[in-house]
Amino acid sequence: AKKIILTEDTSLPAAVKILIGDKDVTLGEGEVKGTRVKVSGRIHRLRQQKQATFLTLIDGYGHLQCVLAGDLTRTYDALLFAQGTSLTLYGEMRKVPEGQSAPDNRELHVDYYRVIGKSPSDADAITNRVSAQQDQWDAQMLDNRHLVLRGDTASSVMKVRSAVEWAFAKAYRELKFTKISPPAFVQTQVEGGSTLFGLDYYGERAYLTQSSQLYLETAIPSLGNVYCIEKSFRAEKSLTRRHLSEYTHVEAELDFIEFEDLLVHLEEMISRVITTLLEDKEIAGYIKELNPEFKVPSRPFKRMRYSDAIDWLNAQDPPILNEEGNPHVFGDDIAEAAERRMTDIINLPIFLTHFPAEIKSFYMKKEEADLRCTESVDVLMPGVGEIVGGSMRMEDYDELIGAYKREGMSIDDYYWYTEQRKYGTSPHGGYGLGLERFVAWICKQHSIRTCCLYPRFMGRCKP
Ligand code: 4AD
Repeated sequence: AKKIILTEDTSLPAAVKILIGDKDVTLGEGEVKGTRVKVSGRIHRLRQQKQATFLTLIDGYGHLQCVLAGDLTRTYDALLFAQGTSLTLYGEMRKVPEGQSAPDNRELHVDYYRVIGKSPSDADAITNRVSAQQDQWDAQMLDNRHLVLRGDTASSVMKVRSAVEWAFAKAYRELKFTKISPPAFVQTQVEGGSTLFGLDYYGERAYLTQSSQLYLETAIPSLGNVYCIEKSFRAEKSLTRRHLSEYTHVEAELDFIEFEDLLVHLEEMISRVITTLLEDKEIAGYIKELNPEFKVPSRPFKRMRYSDAIDWLNAQDPPILNEEGNPHVFGDDIAEAAERRMTDIINLPIFLTHFPAEIKSFYMKKEEADLRCTESVDVLMPGVGEIVGGSMRMEDYDELIGAYKREGMSIDDYYWYTEQRKYGTSPHGGYGLGLERFVAWICKQHSIRTCCLYPRFMGRCKP
């Protein structure tokens, strides 16, 4: 066989450099010439037939069908084409022939190409398994996360996640919240000592933050309502599908509000974010692929007091039991399994409110009408369960000091937090939303592990 060397035909129109996402190129049809373009990407799928080779090219902005024929399919490079091969292709953009289909109804009729990076053919195996939605708990899949991310499902989830983060920022801006960036190294706890990651900080004891809430509270006197989107860290010792050791926490704090205002704000934020997502055609397309039944939840969201949830669990036939296998009583934690069953049966977003003080965090404000309860809320979504935890905060100095004592916390470490109650206290409250859980709900992911780039949980800190 003779060695085929490709050269670009200089008599053709100069190629316009495009990304696959660029839709405003002329498509050739019949005698009408399409734009001659130059596009770089990687082979995602490969179909080699006698007459022609069909490549699906990806570049992070879409999929493009490329058709190669004649000598173009007979070069040494072409014989080694494999999933992952990176290359630059030149050619005319044309409408797909009647009766055939391709992404965006178009295909690139290649007249010249240059291979940039070869790929071994075993890469094929890895990404194909991904598109078959291999179980994400599989250690091999997690070890290969860097390749798994090239699959259609994983990359769609990442695109949606990016859009979710942007949609939150947009909604907060519209509602006039100021973004702040609290520290990750801290010397205080927010959600209990058992999930703190401790570390040596120049010889002092420090932790990775569990929540930026206390810092957000210190910013409201001068900045008004504030939010942050930062990492939170929890040394969770259980391996569940909704717990990570490092997650992205969307947190906000609102000044001079009542509990009802907090609930209405949460509804407003969730609705605005979903509207923004669905208004974006590309993102709406990914959501449709991942979660065809997804629809905007109707407002107002269902509200349920904790005590009514306890009654509801016990009224089921058979009753949904607590972790010890007994009927629930007031004061029990509603464990993940029970909470999930309740949410799935009710099948609507639920605002679960007024949890007993004894099972909630030290800073939560008590309900005046029933001092056993707090002005607290968990937002529960079908499929994932809790995605938000929020509450009104204790306003009174002495009450807060009492709360530290009861929890055995060191009062001195919290002076900066306590002093908010000394220098002009206010009725205020806020919440934290787990970004990965929110994304899992929208994208119908079984586990929140597939909703972050490189999941971190007990036993995994790589790649
Ligand atoms: O309910 P949590 O612990 O509340 C707080 O941290 C408050 N201080 C937030 C605030 O009021 N500013 O956590 C809030 C949310 C949960 O509803 C959940 O979505 C998420 O953070 N979350 C986790 N996500 C993934 N992995 C974990 N281990 C998580 N722990 C909490």
